[in-house]
Order: sequence, then structure tokens, then C-alpha cells
Amino acid sequence: MSDSISALFQRLTQGVYLVGVAHGEARNAFTAASVMQVSFDPLLLALSINPRHSSYGLLKQSRAFSVNVLKKNQMELAAHFGRPARADKLALMEWPTGRAGTPLLREALAWFECQVVSEHPAGDHVLVLGKVIDGRLLDSEADPMTYRETGAMDGASALFPEGFGDA
Ligand SMILES: Cc1cc2nc3c(=O)[nH]c(=O)nc-3n(C[C@H](O)[C@H](O)[C@H](O)COP(=O)(O)O)c2cc1C
Repeated sequence: MSDSISALFQRLTQGVYLVGVAHGEARNAFTAASVMQVSFDPLLLALSINPRHSSYGLLKQSRAFSVNVLKKNQMELAAHFGRPARADKLALMEWPTGRAGTPLLREALAWFECQVVSEHPAGDHVLVLGKVIDGRLLDSEADPMTYRETGAMDGASALFPEGFGDA
């Protein structure tokens, strides 16, 4: 049942992003599908993050994050950053730093940099609203990766409940 719920939820079309965070000397990034634009004025993005992720502590301290849009052919990056950090996950390549100090992926399709404006409890996640303070389209020809293309990479089928519960 949870496998079929997982397949159902993957039809809510979402992209795949590397969310970058940094505080002092510490930096990290993780793969996220739950990112969306939620306001035009001000320009706001929402990010749903599991507060157990090590990235969350850095985000809370720095109150900033970057959203790096992955291209279709960057599946290895999605997998690498979708795992917890043992060493510095960012050591694979050089990361320029944005205005708010967040790591930016040079090879991304595009990036956004956000300053945290509020946090909202959202079940087992926290919904973080970020004001977009900068952004760049780096490759206008590339197609963005979709969450569905990542298949079972995030292990989400084990996280879904058995059913929808009582109506
Ligand atoms: C395709 C994919 C999508 C993911 N989406 C999210 C997400 O939207 N929010 C989240 O908190 N974790 C998401 N994850 C899980 C994190 O990337 C993963 O737990 C990671 O290890 C967290 O990194 P950290 O512990 O170094 O911060 C996703 C993972 C994958 C592979």
C-alpha cells in the first residue's frame, strides 16, 4: 500500500534541488523535492525540511539557504546529496558563495538564494519560508529533473502510512 501511495504522490509534479546551507566554517547541502514558489510580492519560496537533517541546524543558525535546480542528467548529484554527510559532502566540486553566504552549485540549471523569514511546524517536517534575495538562470536550454525520475532514491515509500486514515 505504501508503495502505491508513494507512486501516487510522485505524480504531484516537483523538481529536484540541492539546498545549500552554511554557518561559520560549516557548510552542507541536501537533495530536496519539496520546494515551491508561494508568493510574488514579496518573492517567497517554501522549503519543507526534516528537522533531523544536519542541514537544518545550519539553516537555523544562518537563517539563509540556497536552492540549486538540478538538470535531468544530474542524477548522481541527487543521490550523493540525498545521503547524510559522513565527510564534507561539498568536497566534490568548488562552490561559490552567495550574498547571504550560502553555497551555490556552478553546474546547476539555476540557483536562488533565500533569507529565512519564518518557520512553521508541518507534521514531521518544518516549512521554511525564504525571501528570494538573488537568483540566476545558468542554463536556459536544460530540462529540470523531476522528483518522479528519482524513483525510490529517497526511500519515501517506507515513510508513507499504510492508508489515508479516517475520513
Ligand atoms: C529525491 C530526494 C528528495 C528529497 N526531498 C527532501 C525534502 O524535500 N525535504 C527533506 O527534508 N529531505 C528530502 N530528502 C532527504 C534528504 O536529502 C536526506 O535525508 C539527506 O541525507 C539530508 O542531508 P543532511 O542530513 O546532510 O542534511 C530527499 C532525498 C531525495 C533523494
